Amino acid sequence: MRKITIAIDGYSSTGKSTIAKRLASALNYIYVDTGAMYRAVTLFALQEGIINDKGELDKAALVDKLSEIHLKFLPNKQTGRSEMFLNDENVEQEIRSMRVSGFVSPVAAIKEVREKLVKIQQAMGKDKGIVMDGRDIGTVVFPDAELKLFMTASPETRAARRYKELLEKGEKVSYPEVLKNVEERDRIDSTRTISPLTQAKDAIEFDNSDMGLEEQFERIYDYSQRVIAKL
Ligand code: DC
Repeated sequence: MRKITIAIDGYSSTGKSTIAKRLASALNYIYVDTGAMYRAVTLFALQEGIINDKGELDKAALVDKLSEIHLKFLPNKQTGRSEMFLNDENVEQEIRSMRVSGFVSPVAAIKEVREKLVKIQQAMGKDKGIVMDGRDIGTVVFPDAELKLFMTASPETRAARRYKELLEKGEKVSYPEVLKNVEERDRIDSTRTISPLTQAKDAIEFDNSDMGLEEQFERIYDYSQRVIAKL
């Protein structure tokens, strides 16, 4: 059967990655979480002091050091799930922290950072058979993707999901703090000059505010089967 490219974009915490992972596993496709890559670059900037204690980001210093950043996804031996490695260190947990979430949008707005990551993402998807989620997958990374989804949900729904996830991971956060971060990231991600978060013209909008995971998965999976059958 011919393989396709599936691009899933949308606002933060819309459940893109949960759906993308399930879809990839059902289709036996590769799954790539591009947000993890922007998060890993942000973690690098924090580790190197390129984001200082006052929270100031030295863009030029980060651009200078981009060649020192090596990213890899490797499967976890127990769960089989792919995890993010930054310079051979497993950073899967750390990149999901509120600290990284607080700085990732300005890092992702840097042109050179995006150029580097987009190149890696395009190489990963060159043979198709890939589900990639992010903000610019259907518009910039794979404008020719055969299936494009744009996921949305209200900020409150998304913040509540994220809050629950963070609590489960043992982070000490408050709901208003998480909501503020979600709204702030939406604002920066959709107003930046380079590759802002926008819905591709040929993407299908999918609002999952009131939809359970099972229903979402079934609908999207059926849709992918129809697209594949038409090839
Ligand atoms: O999907 P996420 O919340 O893990 O993404 C983290 C940040 O990375 C998000 O605030 C915007 C940025 N991002 C991006 O600019 N482009 C992508 N393709 C993926 C993520």
